[in-house]
Amino acid sequence: MLIPNEATMREWMSRVNAHTSDTYYYKNWELHRAGTMSLVNQAIQYGTSSPEVLIVGAGNCNDIDLVELISTSAKVDLVDIDGHAIEQAINRRVPYHLRDKVEVISTDITPLSNNGFTPEIFCKLLASRSVNEFTDAMSRFCVSNGSERFVGNKHYDVVIILPVLTQLIGPMYRACSEVVWRDDRAKMHDDFYPEIYNYSTTLSRQVLDYCWERVRPSGTFVITTDVLDFSEDPWKGTFSTQSTSNPYWMRDMIKSAMEIAIFDDAETILEWLDYHKQHSIVFQRWLWPFSENKIHAVFGELLRK
Ligand SMILES: C[S@@+](CC[C@H](N)C(=O)[O-])C[C@H]1O[C@@H](n2cnc3c(N)ncnc32)[C@H](O)[C@@H]1O
Repeated sequence: MLIPNEATMREWMSRVNAHTSDTYYYKNWELHRAGTMSLVNQAIQYGTSSPEVLIVGAGNCNDIDLVELISTSAKVDLVDIDGHAIEQAINRRVPYHLRDKVEVISTDITPLSNNGFTPEIFCKLLASRSVNEFTDAMSRFCVSNGSERFVGNKHYDVVIILPVLTQLIGPMYRACSEVVWRDDRAKMHDDFYPEIYNYSTTLSRQVLDYCWERVRPSGTFVITTDVLDFSEDPWKGTFSTQSTSNPYWMRDMIKSAMEIAIFDDAETILEWLDYHKQHSIVFQRWLWPFSENKIHAVFGELLRK
């Protein structure tokens, strides 16, 4: 487990992304990339030809076919806190003649970094074991200060949010809590988790609302999110990461599993989607063989404004 003691959120996410930056992941994420690109291509087909596209949470760009996307678009803005990961992906995969159409926007899509939040501070707050101290500090860190309006008032024909909203606080919380609470983690978790969930929901809704505002009238919006982990109980052993399952059986399996339990952060997204259901055009579910011992289920939806 990585211990988050970095000076900035960007440094922490870069360390996390470094684990999935090599070609093994690009190849292994083929099924996930195909699911994502199916929605992205439908989003492009519904709108103007040669659209302007915004992608949030691009990272190593393992879940998008950059060349296909850039070739069919007039302009692609790629956003991530780890802009370096995006630049490396462009250098690896995008021919020079297409690069003029791409802009890399390296920024925190939440107000956290600009409000002085760091992984080190987060770990110290958990170590204090004081829920009051934690909520006082987090309330200040999450206040919107304009920095999270990462593309200003710009509008796009297609806006795509990749699986970033489950990453805003959750992974750092799991990494920190394991280290600072050790043996009495379960007890401390009961006290702190409702607050973690509350702030994660606040940040996700800020991003979702802002990104939805960026979509031009008649434009399209795609969101993909990891919803559950098939390598954890109660689904452990259901799929192997090498599995090339029947897609119909796989979709039914994911549907049933989603009725039992999904990540809390994904719940926030599904609630937001439910609130916007009059705009929904299509949704899909697929498997994301993430690594040798992790296999996620993904939910993706396409909306039209
Ligand atoms: C699970 S990855 C999504 C997969 C990614 N598209 C790829 O192919 O590598 C989540 C991405 O969200 C980014 N991220 C996490 N927190 C962020 C934040 N606060 N602001 C901007 N990007 C963030 C990470 O840097 C990472 O690239």
